[in-house]
Amino acid sequence: MVFKLEMNFTFVVEENNEIVGIANGTLVDKSGLSRLGWIGAHPTHQNKGIGKALLKKVIEHCRTKGWHKITLYTTPFLITAVNLYLKQGFVPEAYLRKEWWNVDFIKMSKWL
Ligand SMILES: CC(C)(COP(=O)(O)OP(=O)(O)OC[C@H]1O[C@@H](n2cnc3c(N)ncnc32)[C@H](O)[C@@H]1OP(=O)(O)O)[C@@H](O)C(=O)NCCC(=O)NCCS
Repeated sequence: MVFKLEMNFTFVVEENNEIVGIANGTLVDKSGLSRLGWIGAHPTHQNKGIGKALLKKVIEHCRTKGWHKITLYTTPFLITAVNLYLKQGFVPEAYLRKEWWNVDFIKMSKWL
């Protein structure tokens, strides 16, 4: 399911009428640079392929739209998330020391 608001996009995974996973993002103006905002699976539904399915959907969506790059920010201690991104072809583009909230972040990107 897709809700479109301007150039924002949201995908959800439902199970028994409950949302158990969500990913959203936005196109930065008309630049072709898409930014993944949130991605998450409900704590009781993690490690079951939901995050991977959502991220694949985001990649497919951005590619279909003709956008050339997806970027996101994560932190080095979110091991599952970093592994998920690496396995789907994202690469670390910048290491941001003490960025938001004095925490280290990694900017990861995938070119389509
Ligand atoms: C990150 C998150 C979205 C991944 O979704 P998920 O449904 O749990 O993950 P999946 O089952 O789809 O697994 C995807 C990949 O994550 C990695 N992974 C999964 N479980 C892992 C674990 N326990 N340890 C390390 N890596 C793991 C693997 O690389 C896996 O790919 P593979 O199955 O091809 O080996 C989910 O764990 C989550 O919501 N975490 C909390 C919120 C969060 O950190 N969001 C990201 C913010 S940047």
